[in-house]
Amino acid sequence: MHQGGTPVRISSFNTVDDSNLVDIRINRVLRRQARISPDIDLVYKQWVIPKGTAVGISAHTMHMDPGVFPEPCKFLPERWLGSYDPRMSRNFVPFSKGSRACWGKQLAWSEMFIVLGTLFRPNGSKMTAADCDESDVVPTRSCEIGLPKKDYKGLRVTLG
Ligand code: HEM
Repeated sequence: MHQGGTPVRISSFNTVDDSNLVDIRINRVLRRQARISPDIDLVYKQWVIPKGTAVGISAHTMHMDPGVFPEPCKFLPERWLGSYDPRMSRNFVPFSKGSRACWGKQLAWSEMFIVLGTLFRPNGSKMTAADCDESDVVPTRSCEIGLPKKDYKGLRVTLG
Protein backbone atom coordinates (compact mmCIF):
# COMPACT_ATOMS: atom_id res chain seq x y z
CA MET A 1 0.00 0.00 0.00
CA HIS A 2 1.29 3.50 -0.75
CA GLN A 3 0.10 6.76 0.72
CA GLY A 4 1.62 10.11 -0.15
CA GLY A 5 4.43 8.33 -1.99
CA THR A 6 5.50 6.40 1.12
CA PRO A 7 5.17 2.67 0.73
CA VAL A 8 3.22 1.03 3.51
CA ARG A 9 3.45 -2.72 3.36
CA ILE A 10 0.92 -5.01 4.93
CA SER A 11 2.98 -7.89 6.32
CA SER A 12 2.55 -11.24 4.70
CA PHE A 13 2.78 -14.46 6.65
CA ASN A 14 6.29 -14.90 5.23
CA THR A 15 7.62 -11.56 6.50
CA VAL A 16 6.61 -11.74 10.14
CA ASP A 17 8.30 -14.97 11.06
CA ASP A 18 10.69 -13.27 13.50
CA SER A 19 7.91 -11.55 15.39
CA ASN A 20 6.41 -12.51 18.74
CA LEU A 21 3.08 -12.43 16.99
CA VAL A 22 4.09 -15.58 15.19
CA ASP A 23 4.77 -17.38 18.45
CA ILE A 24 1.35 -16.35 19.64
CA ARG A 25 -0.19 -17.54 16.41
CA ILE A 26 1.66 -20.84 16.53
CA ASN A 27 0.51 -21.42 20.08
CA ARG A 28 -2.99 -20.68 19.00
CA VAL A 29 -2.77 -22.97 16.00
CA LEU A 30 -1.38 -25.79 18.09
CA ARG A 31 -4.13 -25.32 20.63
CA ARG A 32 -6.65 -25.19 17.84
CA GLN A 33 -5.70 -28.56 16.51
CA ALA A 34 -8.64 -30.85 16.27
CA ARG A 35 -10.89 -31.51 19.22
CA ILE A 36 -10.89 -35.03 20.58
CA SER A 37 -13.32 -36.71 22.91
CA PRO A 38 -10.89 -38.68 25.07
CA ASP A 39 -13.28 -40.80 27.12
CA ILE A 40 -16.58 -41.41 25.35
CA ASP A 41 -17.79 -42.08 21.83
CA LEU A 42 -19.69 -39.18 20.29
CA VAL A 43 -23.06 -39.81 18.65
CA TYR A 44 -24.36 -37.51 15.92
CA LYS A 45 -27.57 -38.59 14.20
CA GLN A 46 -26.83 -42.04 12.81
CA TRP A 47 -23.06 -41.68 13.13
CA VAL A 48 -20.84 -42.77 15.98
CA ILE A 49 -17.49 -41.01 16.29
CA PRO A 50 -15.21 -43.25 18.33
CA LYS A 51 -13.45 -41.70 21.30
CA GLY A 52 -9.95 -40.53 20.44
CA THR A 53 -11.00 -39.41 16.97
CA ALA A 54 -9.88 -35.93 15.97
CA VAL A 55 -12.85 -33.82 14.85
CA GLY A 56 -12.85 -30.49 13.08
CA ILE A 57 -14.36 -28.45 10.29
CA SER A 58 -12.72 -26.48 7.54
CA ALA A 59 -14.12 -22.98 7.10
CA HIS A 60 -12.71 -22.92 3.57
CA THR A 61 -14.65 -26.07 2.64
CA MET A 62 -17.82 -24.64 4.17
CA HIS A 63 -17.39 -21.35 2.30
CA MET A 64 -16.52 -22.95 -1.01
CA ASP A 65 -19.43 -25.40 -1.16
CA PRO A 66 -20.91 -24.72 -4.62
CA GLY A 67 -24.20 -26.30 -3.55
CA VAL A 68 -24.64 -23.48 -1.03
CA PHE A 69 -22.61 -20.69 -2.64
CA PRO A 70 -22.96 -21.04 -6.44
CA GLU A 71 -19.76 -19.98 -8.20
CA PRO A 72 -18.04 -19.77 -4.81
CA CYS A 73 -14.82 -18.20 -6.09
CA LYS A 74 -16.64 -15.28 -7.69
CA PHE A 75 -16.92 -12.00 -5.77
CA LEU A 76 -20.70 -11.68 -5.71
CA PRO A 77 -21.60 -9.64 -2.62
CA GLU A 78 -25.14 -9.37 -3.91
CA ARG A 79 -25.57 -13.05 -3.07
CA TRP A 80 -26.22 -11.82 0.50
CA LEU A 81 -28.97 -9.39 -0.51
CA GLY A 82 -32.68 -10.09 -0.24
CA SER A 83 -33.97 -13.46 0.87
CA TYR A 84 -30.93 -15.65 0.42
CA ASP A 85 -30.60 -19.36 1.04
CA PRO A 86 -30.55 -19.84 4.87
CA ARG A 87 -27.89 -22.52 4.37
CA MET A 88 -25.52 -19.65 3.57
CA SER A 89 -25.76 -18.42 7.17
CA ARG A 90 -25.32 -21.97 8.43
CA ASN A 91 -22.19 -22.42 6.30
CA PHE A 92 -20.68 -19.02 7.17
CA VAL A 93 -18.12 -19.87 9.85
CA PRO A 94 -15.13 -17.51 9.64
CA PHE A 95 -15.13 -17.19 13.43
CA SER A 96 -16.08 -20.81 14.01
CA LYS A 97 -19.24 -21.53 15.99
CA GLY A 98 -20.20 -22.95 19.33
CA SER A 99 -18.48 -22.81 22.69
CA ARG A 100 -14.97 -22.25 21.29
CA ALA A 101 -15.94 -19.64 18.71
CA CYS A 102 -13.94 -16.43 18.41
CA TRP A 103 -14.17 -14.08 21.41
CA GLY A 104 -13.10 -11.13 19.30
CA LYS A 105 -15.77 -11.51 16.66
CA GLN A 106 -17.61 -8.25 17.42
CA LEU A 107 -14.34 -6.29 17.68
CA ALA A 108 -13.18 -7.84 14.41
CA TRP A 109 -16.44 -6.87 12.68
CA SER A 110 -16.10 -3.31 14.05
CA GLU A 111 -12.53 -3.07 12.78
CA MET A 112 -13.51 -4.38 9.36
CA PHE A 113 -16.45 -1.97 9.09
CA ILE A 114 -14.26 0.99 10.09
CA VAL A 115 -11.33 0.12 7.79
CA LEU A 116 -13.39 -0.94 4.78
CA GLY A 117 -15.89 1.88 5.31
CA THR A 118 -12.99 4.34 5.34
CA LEU A 119 -11.25 2.87 2.29
CA PHE A 120 -14.41 2.53 0.20
CA ARG A 121 -16.30 5.61 1.36
CA PRO A 122 -18.06 7.77 -1.24
CA ASN A 123 -15.54 10.12 -2.86
CA GLY A 124 -12.73 8.23 -1.15
CA SER A 125 -9.26 7.73 -2.58
CA LYS A 126 -8.92 5.86 -5.84
CA MET A 127 -7.11 2.57 -5.29
CA THR A 128 -4.87 0.95 -7.85
CA ALA A 129 -3.24 -2.45 -7.44
CA ALA A 130 0.52 -1.92 -7.15
CA ASP A 131 2.80 -4.70 -8.34
CA CYS A 132 0.43 -7.46 -7.35
CA ASP A 133 -2.40 -9.38 -8.92
CA GLU A 134 -5.06 -11.91 -8.07
CA SER A 135 -2.48 -14.67 -7.64
CA ASP A 136 -1.12 -12.78 -4.61
CA VAL A 137 -4.37 -13.27 -2.72
CA VAL A 138 -6.04 -16.41 -4.10
CA PRO A 139 -5.49 -19.30 -1.64
CA THR A 140 -3.62 -22.18 -3.22
CA ARG A 141 -1.97 -23.71 -0.15
CA SER A 142 -3.34 -25.01 3.10
CA CYS A 143 -1.76 -23.87 6.36
CA GLU A 144 -4.77 -24.32 8.63
CA ILE A 145 -5.99 -21.24 6.82
CA GLY A 146 -5.63 -20.90 3.06
CA LEU A 147 -2.47 -19.16 1.87
CA PRO A 148 -1.63 -17.88 -1.61
CA LYS A 149 1.35 -19.05 -3.63
CA LYS A 150 4.66 -19.39 -1.78
CA ASP A 151 6.22 -16.13 -3.01
CA TYR A 152 3.07 -14.05 -2.67
CA LYS A 153 3.56 -10.34 -2.18
CA GLY A 154 0.33 -9.63 -0.40
CA LEU A 155 -2.14 -7.00 -1.45
CA ARG A 156 -0.55 -3.67 -2.23
CA VAL A 157 -2.46 -0.67 -3.49
CA THR A 158 -1.67 2.91 -4.30
CA LEU A 159 -4.10 5.44 -2.90
CA GLY A 160 -4.50 8.36 -5.23
C1 HEM B 1 -11.24 -11.25 11.16
C2 HEM B 1 -10.70 -11.48 12.35
C3 HEM B 1 -10.81 -12.79 13.13
C4 HEM B 1 -11.11 -14.04 12.68
C5 HEM B 1 -11.45 -14.50 11.26
C6 HEM B 1 -11.08 -14.92 13.84
C7 HEM B 1 -11.33 -16.27 13.81
C8 HEM B 1 -11.31 -17.09 14.92
C9 HEM B 1 -11.63 -18.49 14.91
C10 HEM B 1 -12.03 -19.30 13.67
C11 HEM B 1 -11.53 -18.95 16.16
C12 HEM B 1 -11.83 -20.37 16.65
C13 HEM B 1 -10.58 -21.08 16.92
C14 HEM B 1 -10.83 -22.52 17.31
O1 HEM B 1 -11.55 -23.22 16.62
O2 HEM B 1 -10.23 -22.94 18.31
C15 HEM B 1 -11.11 -17.84 17.00
C16 HEM B 1 -10.88 -17.93 18.35
C17 HEM B 1 -10.52 -16.87 19.12
N1 HEM B 1 -10.39 -15.56 18.74
FE1 HEM B 1 -10.60 -14.87 16.87
N2 HEM B 1 -10.74 -14.17 14.94
C18 HEM B 1 -10.58 -12.86 14.56
C19 HEM B 1 -10.27 -11.79 15.37
C20 HEM B 1 -10.10 -11.87 16.71
C21 HEM B 1 -9.84 -10.71 17.58
C22 HEM B 1 -9.75 -9.25 17.07
C23 HEM B 1 -9.70 -11.20 18.83
C24 HEM B 1 -9.43 -10.48 20.12
C25 HEM B 1 -9.24 -9.19 20.23
C26 HEM B 1 -9.89 -12.63 18.78
C27 HEM B 1 -9.83 -13.46 19.87
C28 HEM B 1 -10.04 -14.81 19.84
C29 HEM B 1 -9.95 -15.68 21.00
C30 HEM B 1 -9.60 -15.26 22.43
C31 HEM B 1 -10.26 -16.97 20.57
C32 HEM B 1 -10.27 -18.26 21.39
C33 HEM B 1 -11.68 -18.56 21.87
C34 HEM B 1 -11.68 -19.89 22.65
O3 HEM B 1 -10.86 -20.75 22.39
O4 HEM B 1 -12.57 -20.04 23.52
N3 HEM B 1 -10.13 -12.99 17.49
N4 HEM B 1 -10.99 -16.72 16.21
